[in-house]
Amino acid sequence: MSSTSAVTFWDGVHAARPATDSPSPNVRLTETVTALPPGEALDLGCGNGGDALWLARAGWRVTAADISAVAVDRLTALARAHGLHDRVTAVRTDLRTSFPPGAFDLVSAHYLHTPYDLDRPAVLRAAAHALRPGGRLLVVDHGSTAPWSWNQDPGVRFPAPEEVAAGIGLDPAVWTVERADAPRRIATGPDGGTAEVTDHVLLVRRAG
Ligand SMILES: C[S@@+](CC[C@H](N)C(=O)[O-])C[C@H]1O[C@@H](n2cnc3c(N)ncnc32)[C@H](O)[C@@H]1O
Repeated sequence: MSSTSAVTFWDGVHAARPATDSPSPNVRLTETVTALPPGEALDLGCGNGGDALWLARAGWRVTAADISAVAVDRLTALARAHGLHDRVTAVRTDLRTSFPPGAFDLVSAHYLHTPYDLDRPAVLRAAAHALRPGGRLLVVDHGSTAPWSWNQDPGVRFPAPEEVAAGIGLDPAVWTVERADAPRRIATGPDGGTAEVTDHVLLVRRAG
């Protein structure tokens, strides 16, 4: 599918969701990062910016990348409104064709799923290589379908975190898998409804 249609699709998804003044961070991010010293972070597919704003409040400098100009513009405005514009840089990036430059202490990819072609293993490999020594890559994928998901395909398959790690193909002498599991949680959808969902969590650390 074309680049234009991917942009149109994701702009439409974001525009259809009401803009919020205080988007919530993902729980897998907060539970993982709270124990880490702040540094430089990269958020891949940042969406409404809840993770980027939370990281900035926790002292991180954040590059937040998304294919959607709607998402990027909203996050830029929110960062300014919350006085976090010096710590959050939102950039429109199509990860199919480019990857944000820089070296990071944390790269986070939460629910980086799309109906368009995206070589996720290549993107996540680039993310692992963009880590500074001692840095971490946190990949959180859906492990089940929520009622409000854009993807209601009953045949959809959710690769286990171990499969995601194997797909990235990292040298175990340099990158260590610190976490690979499938916790469940009660999630809240954009309209306030709740449902139990499964996350697939992969945390990889680059050797110091
Ligand atoms: C399912 S949403 C997850 C958003 C956010 N990380 C969260 O946890 O709420 C997937 C995000 O990836 C973005 N995205 C999809 N394809 C992309 C691409 N090729 N390059 C960059 N971002 C992309 C979408 O615009 C969307 O914000």
